[in-house]
Amino acid sequence: MKSKGRILIVDDKPINISILCALLEPEFTLETAGNGEECLEKCRRFEPDLVLLDIVMPGINGYEVCHRIKSSPVGGFTQVILVSGRASPEERLQGYESQADDYIVKPFDHDELLWKVRVQFRLRDAHARLFKLYGQIEANNAELEQRVAERTAEVTAVQDLVVFSLAKLADSRDPDTGEHLVRIRAYSQILAKQLSRKGPYVDEIDDRFLNDLYRASPLHDIGKVGIPDAILQKPGRLTNCEFELMKQHVIIGAEALEKGLKQSSAAQFLQMAVDVTRYHHERFDGTGYCAGLSGCQIPLSARIVALADVYDALTSKRTYKPAFQLDTAWEIIVEASGSHFDPAIVDGFRVCYDEFLQFASQDVAEDLQVQKEIACLVGA
Ligand code: C2E
Ligand code: SIN
Ligand code: SIN
Ligand code: FE
Repeated sequence: MKSKGRILIVDDKPINISILCALLEPEFTLETAGNGEECLEKCRRFEPDLVLLDIVMPGINGYEVCHRIKSSPVGGFTQVILVSGRASPEERLQGYESQADDYIVKPFDHDELLWKVRVQFRLRDAHARLFKLYGQIEANNAELEQRVAERTAEVTAVQDLVVFSLAKLADSRDPDTGEHLVRIRAYSQILAKQLSRKGPYVDEIDDRFLNDLYRASPLHDIGKVGIPDAILQKPGRLTNCEFELMKQHVIIGAEALEKGLKQSSAAQFLQMAVDVTRYHHERFDGTGYCAGLSGCQIPLSARIVALADVYDALTSKRTYKPAFQLDTAWEIIVEASGSHFDPAIVDGFRVCYDEFLQFASQDVAEDLQVQKEIACLVGA
């Protein structure tokens, strides 16, 4: 059975309170107060659904009390009917302005008052039902969003892994590069994050860009699958002819990924992967390969990976070269600002160089081991 509605009756005259009590007692649970302060106090303790509120009382008057009830945190759930001998239109309007839900003029018809009270309870129930419904809708939405986020995270993790494993596979014949994919991915992220904070590319680099770059950067050399071992693993300098063949890795890789692009819904990520793969050996001054693009014709993602790639090549041992001192690598990069590299990206590199050093000094093998374990788990 539904519990009785709770009404607080407020009047400074005991006789008025008695009349209202007699009228309402059969249907409602009642509490009374003799002035404004007491009313506010009982609102907190008794938590009435409805307050029948006299206006002219010693202390705080009914208008002010009503206003305070309605402004309190639970005020939206407390209905207020002003009950007053003040009958002029101005006085009644003032009552509505102080947010009363209804206004009854004394002397009142008993049945009418009873019905007006019941109407307020109907309204209040309707509010409560709506409120509950909104709560349920919000809870449902939150749960849905949570599930979508979880699923998305799962799918993304698996995709990351598959993509990375693919890149790793393509990289596996290149004996010296070791953990260079992990480093290039990290360097590219560090650079891109720096560029998202300061400089001309702040508006171009959002979370989506960063996520796509995280996955796309390890793919930059995937075209090396098409380069013969004799060239890829040659201990000494490449001949011109061999280097011409080596240059083809950007085209082989980009074309392989473009085939996927036509069939896939992950278009934005794959487009970036194609850009990075095809254009990571372009140079800012237009003297790179294979397209010979210059400046901002080269996609930003590729300009970022270009620097990360060369920095990694310089600081690592290759079959054809020893690892350079860090200072030397830094100088080569900075001196190539405007020729090989975008000057704005080199500026970013100067700022976040410490983060490069920090990453390079930590144990990448551990990171790789984790990736391998996950790869086994998902069968990738
Ligand atoms: P990689 O070894 O990963 O080098 C990537 C890029 O880093 C190079 O692109 C180049 O821009 C830069 N880089 C590498 N070593 C040096 C260096 O000693 N000095 C300077 N200033 N920059 C350096 P690049 O030249 O287009 O070469 C692409 C790839 O071709 C290289 O990737 C490597 O796999 C191969 N390669 C290039 N030259 C030789 C070589 O003389 N012998 C052999 N065996 N492979 C080479
Ligand atoms: C009274 O009936 O208590 C006086 C009038 C009023 O409260 O507004
Ligand atoms: C390669 O090209 O064979 C490795 C390094 C790179 O292209 O950046
Ligand atoms: Fe390359």
